[in-house]
Amino acid sequence: MYKRPRRNRKSAAIRNMVEETRLSPKDFIFPLFVIDGINQKEEVASMPGIYRHSTDLLLKEIEECMELGIQSFDIFPAYPESKKDKKATESYNPETFYLKAISKVKSSFPEACIMTDVAMDPYSSDGHDGILKNGKILNDETLEVLAKMAVAQAQAGADIIGPSDMMDGRVGYLREALDKAGHTEVSIMSYTAKYASAFYNPFRDALDSAPKAGDKKTYQMDPANLHEALIEAELDEAEGADFLMVKPALAYLDVIRLLKENSNLPIAAYNVSGEYSMIKAAHEKGWLDGENAMLETLLSIKRAGANIILSYFAKEYAKLYK
Ligand code: PBG
Repeated sequence: MYKRPRRNRKSAAIRNMVEETRLSPKDFIFPLFVIDGINQKEEVASMPGIYRHSTDLLLKEIEECMELGIQSFDIFPAYPESKKDKKATESYNPETFYLKAISKVKSSFPEACIMTDVAMDPYSSDGHDGILKNGKILNDETLEVLAKMAVAQAQAGADIIGPSDMMDGRVGYLREALDKAGHTEVSIMSYTAKYASAFYNPFRDALDSAPKAGDKKTYQMDPANLHEALIEAELDEAEGADFLMVKPALAYLDVIRLLKENSNLPIAAYNVSGEYSMIKAAHEKGWLDGENAMLETLLSIKRAGANIILSYFAKEYAKLYK
């Protein structure tokens, strides 16, 4: 035997040298949930270790994360039912707590990268990402709402806006609206290949944003489809996206790889709420080692081709890294 692959595995020092994929806290965007009020911190029942923070405590959380080396944050708002309506008007109310929270975060941590989510669901009384009329989601009417929302978020200080709504034509429409409002420097991380997935449920618990009726299959992609992601990617690139995202991550590693091989833009992957919760749940039951499962999961996402990972594990990972 001249070839013995085990020689390159014989010690930690050698294994470290031949390691092909390396993670660092800089790879991550940490999703955070913000609520109105002061001194509020509520754990999301289906996401152990993840909280909804009021703005004052959110600032503390971000400070801790930055000390651990995390530089980027995606902030989502949780609104009470009383603030929701069919057209998500609260999303661009300049006085709304979410936009104020973004301003506060940005002025407190100017060097942090702050991302916001563009879709109607946290503000929609129907729990959909677009305007619902007679059981249908209206694409072009929704774009107008999304544009107002995106400009308001940019105004508040967002560095990156993340359209997660899956309406057709939204990247170009938002790019134009941002530019017209003078926000040419604000980036767009498009949820390019966002699938109609069963893995979003804990997130919908966190925001209380589940659809009141129906599902999201007329706008989010069919989990059966791979090449359709290339159609979305080509459109997003042509319309001016700065980053392409695949979501969820784990059940879609092939999609991450395909986009990586077909685009020169940086590729992000969203390791979604359900992917987080299932590892946490199995760990609590003693069925697997949560820490090792987390590390293997995050590595797999990067190995598949993601340059950036949005993950609820970001802080836990950064602590371990330190
Ligand atoms: C809103 C949005 C969702 C997620 C991010 N933005 C939920 C959905 O589309 O229903 C899911 C994130 C997660 O599960 O962690 N459009």
